[in-house]
Amino acid sequence: MTKIQSVVRGVGGYLPERVMSNDDLAKIVDTSDEWIVQRTGIRQRHIAAEGEYTSDLALVAAQRALENAGMDASEIDLIVVGTTTPDRTFPATAAILQQKLGITKGSAFDVQAVCSGFVFGVATADSYLKTGMARRALVIGAETASRILDWNDRTTCVLFGDGAGAIILEAQDVPDDAPENGILVSSLRTDGSHWDKLYVDGGVSTTQSIGHLRMEGREVFKHAVGMISDVVEEVLAKTGKTTEDLDWFVPHQANKRIIDGAGRKLGIPEAKTIVTVDKHANTSAASVPLALWVANEDGRIKKGDLVMIEAMGGGFTWGAALIRW
Ligand code: ACO
Repeated sequence: MTKIQSVVRGVGGYLPERVMSNDDLAKIVDTSDEWIVQRTGIRQRHIAAEGEYTSDLALVAAQRALENAGMDASEIDLIVVGTTTPDRTFPATAAILQQKLGITKGSAFDVQAVCSGFVFGVATADSYLKTGMARRALVIGAETASRILDWNDRTTCVLFGDGAGAIILEAQDVPDDAPENGILVSSLRTDGSHWDKLYVDGGVSTTQSIGHLRMEGREVFKHAVGMISDVVEEVLAKTGKTTEDLDWFVPHQANKRIIDGAGRKLGIPEAKTIVTVDKHANTSAASVPLALWVANEDGRIKKGDLVMIEAMGGGFTWGAALIRW
């Protein structure tokens, strides 16, 4: 008997060229490097250039992931893009990306789960691969969050940045007793009763405008650590593993204090935690794949490592996945 494993074949990322420091922000709103670093751990963020769209960021991340995998775009038959800042209301950014990659087969669609979009995308692609719906999936988190920020609101505009990250998952047929590999287990959750704590105050059906990101920061903070820890523990329990088995914890990069809080609650040491929020800020759905890319490139995450990814965002949505790299 055989089974299908969704194996990680490649990873890539892209950050726009323009870097905006906290001092740059202090020229726009009443804030300071000291306040931002102390409350969030963020020191800088990347901002997309005029005319540079979410699909453009996703394209470079995808090309780098394909190169890393030694694969050609024509081999991809599923594209899932986690984004909350699509190029257009429709078509899906995934469809535009598919065209830019020169692919015309398989399927491509967006997942809207805000900051959890990449983790939702990984779980979705994993299901497609394990049920034989596709063989090679490109899963991306890509955002131009800077386009929905209110640059007069210091409580939100200091927190976010732009970027894209991508991984390639491949279905591999292996004997039933083959060693574990690839996506082992994932878990996704949503509780829509919290939607108005983190949302955009515009949209197609409501205002026919894009709107701006609004957030009750303290409320989000209050829920984040508990929700993240719960879902990580659920994923570990499903596999019979503990936090001690983890080689790397790759959390959503919203705020260093949330990352530290979750790490403490779960008993995961800082040395095993990948942190990029200082350099990238919160890139929403792109934050986890960007962190995977950085840690894969610098050699920290190695083949065979056990990696836990997690995210939490607007909705609220939250989720985690355990990966044998
Ligand atoms: N610069 C200087 N002062 C500021 C700024 C700023 N950028 N923003 C707010 N302040 C002021 C406030 O006006 C307030 O002043 P007051 O006491 O005179 O009224 C003071 O700082 C304290 O404000 P709080 O909102 O209580 O600050 P807090 O310590 O809660 O930190 C923060 C705010 C960083 C947003 C925090 O609540 C947080 O991290 N929340 C989590 C939200 C988050 O990370 N969201 C990301 C998206 S969601 C996700 O991805 C999970």
